[in-house]
Amino acid sequence: MIRILCNFCTNSWILSKRKVSVHSVVSYQRIVLGIETSCDDSGAAVVDENGKIRGEALISQKNVHLKTGGIIPSVAQQLHKDNIDRVVNEAVLSSGISLHEVSAIATTVKPGLALSLGVGLSYSLNLVKRYNKPFIPIHHMEAHALTIRLLHQLDFPFLVLLISGGHCILSVANGISDFLLLGQSLDESPGEVFDKVARRLSLFNHPECSSMSGGQSIEYLAQFGDKRFIKHSPPMAQYQDCNFSFAGLRNHYDRLIQKLEKKEGIKNQAVLSCAADVAASFQHSVAHHLVKRTQRAILFCNKERRLPSSKASLVVSGGVASNEYIRKVLRNLTDDMDMSLLCPPPQLCTDNGVMIAWNGIERLRIGVGVVENADDIRYEPRALFGTDISEQVREASIKLPPLKFMK
Ligand code: KG4
Ligand code: ZN
Repeated sequence: MIRILCNFCTNSWILSKRKVSVHSVVSYQRIVLGIETSCDDSGAAVVDENGKIRGEALISQKNVHLKTGGIIPSVAQQLHKDNIDRVVNEAVLSSGISLHEVSAIATTVKPGLALSLGVGLSYSLNLVKRYNKPFIPIHHMEAHALTIRLLHQLDFPFLVLLISGGHCILSVANGISDFLLLGQSLDESPGEVFDKVARRLSLFNHPECSSMSGGQSIEYLAQFGDKRFIKHSPPMAQYQDCNFSFAGLRNHYDRLIQKLEKKEGIKNQAVLSCAADVAASFQHSVAHHLVKRTQRAILFCNKERRLPSSKASLVVSGGVASNEYIRKVLRNLTDDMDMSLLCPPPQLCTDNGVMIAWNGIERLRIGVGVVENADDIRYEPRALFGTDISEQVREASIKLPPLKFMK
């Protein structure tokens, strides 16, 4: 007897050996093409259900946006239009698989920049029609949260911290389409403040940092600086919840940089002599805020028995999770709390097509969110994440013991 899994759902059929060759069973492995255009990266990948990346391609618009001092949505849209065909063709060609053979096409439809999401969606819907494939609309942040399962055998539930250019989210992942929202940023995101402070420090004029993202350049310079140069206690310490706020911190550094520039007589966007100290202090402040809110999330989950009683996992993902200092601080926390820290490698933390294809595979396997008629699918620039239980977290009023490693 041979069991064949349906490409589109969890059903399986048992067929007799006479009716089907072994080769046709092997070719029935689920394979998904994933397409990502929610922000400033055009990404595509072909991934199979064993988590093997058969082909991938990525074109980043970072260097263009670094010159304009931030993402201009119409420019991002045009660049996606210019690049999407190349990226998808490259991913498909390098996979050695024809589009006729893929099981489905998965594409980010929320959240993100409207003009950017629109390019990926309309391109994908054309492919879906042309090749007559099922479509899987993907939530970008859910894809970041589940990327880790492509790399590790990790069962639900686990705690996840998502830190990117658009979001800061603490959540319990209970299933592929089942998240509890413990807290989120009330204003700016960590990636956004890294980018703004890097720009304010004119790091695009620093010889070593000119082609790095804001976050990368702060991390690079921070290695040479003193994190005690500027002291700032973590934001929102008086609120016993898991929400975040980064705007006040960013304002504080803005004002300080202005003062330091005056003192040094800085003109023409030159770089401060103490830029490395400012970068190290700022990175430490962001890390400190992240670790304190995550500490409360862990204590809340322990109290409410929301995670496995032994060796529960904290997953950290999103572009800012590439930051080694932030990882180190969070690893200290998980070591203290007898948990494991799991982070995808940096190239899978920042935006990419692989995470979208993998989320498509996850959905295809359980038959959730697979659309046979994609005509009514729209993109959603703003989208909720999971079931919001942040009020329950606040009501639990959990006090935080001091963290020795943050002193
Ligand atoms: O997840 P992502 O690629 O795009 C969004 O979904 O937003 O995250 C991009 C953000 C940018 O703000 C970038 O500065 C930040 O991730 N980032 C970093 C690092 N690498 C990228 N932030 C801190 N340290 C890094 N090494
Ligand atoms: Zn992202």
